[in-house]
Amino acid sequence: MPIHEIRHPLIRHKLGLMRRADLSTKNFREMSQEVAALLTYEATKDLPLESAAVQGWCGQIEVEKLAGKKVTVVPILRAGIGMLDGVLTLIPGAKVSAVGIARDEETLQAQPYLERLVGALDQRLALIVDPMLATGGSMVATIDMLKKAGCRNIRALVLVAAPEGISAVEAAHPDVQVFTASIDSHLNASGYIIPGLGDAGDRIFGTK
Ligand code: URA
Repeated sequence: MPIHEIRHPLIRHKLGLMRRADLSTKNFREMSQEVAALLTYEATKDLPLESAAVQGWCGQIEVEKLAGKKVTVVPILRAGIGMLDGVLTLIPGAKVSAVGIARDEETLQAQPYLERLVGALDQRLALIVDPMLATGGSMVATIDMLKKAGCRNIRALVLVAAPEGISAVEAAHPDVQVFTASIDSHLNASGYIIPGLGDAGDRIFGTK
């Protein structure tokens, strides 16, 4: 099952506050990062470990450390920036691959306009971050881009997901697991998630 709705009490509580229209930009921004960190904790539960010998206080001991190449976090601009620091709080050594996706007004297809990916993607876990999984167009285009660059281990963290977006990702990329704080009801005619959070980018950046 590629969609994980994380029903942790701290996430439910914070998301409840974020749904309030009167929440300040500062608080919305802070909670986006906090929920992103909690989703990161869940999405990385099965990361591979390897053992390492270290000098402990009582002599040589075996400890565990994360195996393999460092994770890359992939914020989809602009709103994905609002979750980036939350992920980096738990994975401070992660590399950042920034992606920009815009809708082509003629074809209505999601088109990449920025692709600053880190190297060795075939050996890394990519954690895509975007607060709202609405139609799924940007998410599918980002996964397409990462796979084209060789990435085979991709997970997505979203604050809120619409059933329409989940279906789109499942249909195009059934191997990609999505972690969300809430699966909401539906999209309205303007493409907003109901009940959702409103325009997450505007609420994070204070542009409305
Ligand atoms: N993008 C947003 O910021 N909010 C939505 O509800 C849908 C897409």
